[in-house]
Amino acid sequence: MIIFGIESSCDDTACAVLEINEDNGEKILNLKSSAVSSQTDLHKNFGGVVPEIASRAHSEIISFVAKKALDDAEITYSDIDAVAVTFAPGLIGSLLVGVSFAKALALALDVPLIPVNHIQAHVSAAHISHPELPQSYLAMVISGGHTSFYDVCDYEFSEIGATRDDACGEAFDKVGRVMGLTYPCGYEMNMLADEGYKRESYKNLTLPSPALKGEGYDFSFSGLKTASINLIHNIVQKKKLGAGSELDRETKEDIAAAFTESVRKGIGTNLEKILKGNNYSHFVLAGGVAANSHIRKTVIGICEKYHVRACIPKTSFCGDNAAMVCAAGYINMSLKIRADEHLNAFASDEAAERYIREIMAKT
Ligand code: KG4
Ligand code: ZN
Repeated sequence: MIIFGIESSCDDTACAVLEINEDNGEKILNLKSSAVSSQTDLHKNFGGVVPEIASRAHSEIISFVAKKALDDAEITYSDIDAVAVTFAPGLIGSLLVGVSFAKALALALDVPLIPVNHIQAHVSAAHISHPELPQSYLAMVISGGHTSFYDVCDYEFSEIGATRDDACGEAFDKVGRVMGLTYPCGYEMNMLADEGYKRESYKNLTLPSPALKGEGYDFSFSGLKTASINLIHNIVQKKKLGAGSELDRETKEDIAAAFTESVRKGIGTNLEKILKGNNYSHFVLAGGVAANSHIRKTVIGICEKYHVRACIPKTSFCGDNAAMVCAAGYINMSLKIRADEHLNAFASDEAAERYIREIMAKT
């Protein structure tokens, strides 16, 4: 079976082809292609994603990205057996481009249309790189819009901890921007921290933990973000730099390392709390920030300590892509989740869950 996946929830237009084969009753996922067109250049001067620019850019490029995914997989439209598409959560105008394209494609090919939740898709990417991943596990999504732990039971997601304010990626981006980096800043922050960690001086910069104290596994990133921004302003003042002038490279590296240290320790604290009190065999870390090398290392270390298998997608499948949509689409198909020609896009997680409950009640 061949699943064609489509992702357009934010500022990346992506299409992918996943082949599913059966070998002695065992399902084997074979990713044939994954094409992504990034809009970063269109938005970088605005310091964030501009929704209308994003929708227009998706609309312009989506058929080319689809063609690239087919060509790379060496198949044609007529080989597709099902179309999976991200329908929520995200920017509504962006989502609608992918959803409309998917509806037209499924209708023209007369194949099933599978609705996919973007957050579940991020987590499902782990099934491609880790075929041993069972149907029940602990998952964490750290992205530009989400920072949550999920108890996944037979593929059903229940949130068991989350940020009460900013998302982790949002904090990386905001702190990076105040340091003069270009949006999105996560990757550059990672590179700067790599250098900062090589010296001791970052340890002089103390920042609060994003892990909330007490019961539960929640986070707050706004305190860490504000403290980091204040720290940067204080350094600028101490160095008597004029407004708009650049911090030197070493100072940026120290700040990036100190910030990363707080984030990785905070995530580690809550992860340990969960693993200590529960009996998980597998842990999935997913979402754009899961590409961070320091966070990956921390999580792998903690999982080893608790004899839990860490399943983290390859860095190229941490950010938005359509391979993850194919994987989630395959799971949804097995759960008999199918959309019809009335499929709509939804900005929020709650609306998406309501929609899935409604279509499940009808089947
Ligand atoms: O999952 P994603 O591509 O989009 C959303 O669904 O939000 O995540 C994007 C976020 C951005 O905030 C970006 O700065 C962050 O992921 N990011 C990173 C790294 N690579 C991307 N954050 C920290 N370290 C990285 N290496
Ligand atoms: Zn995402």
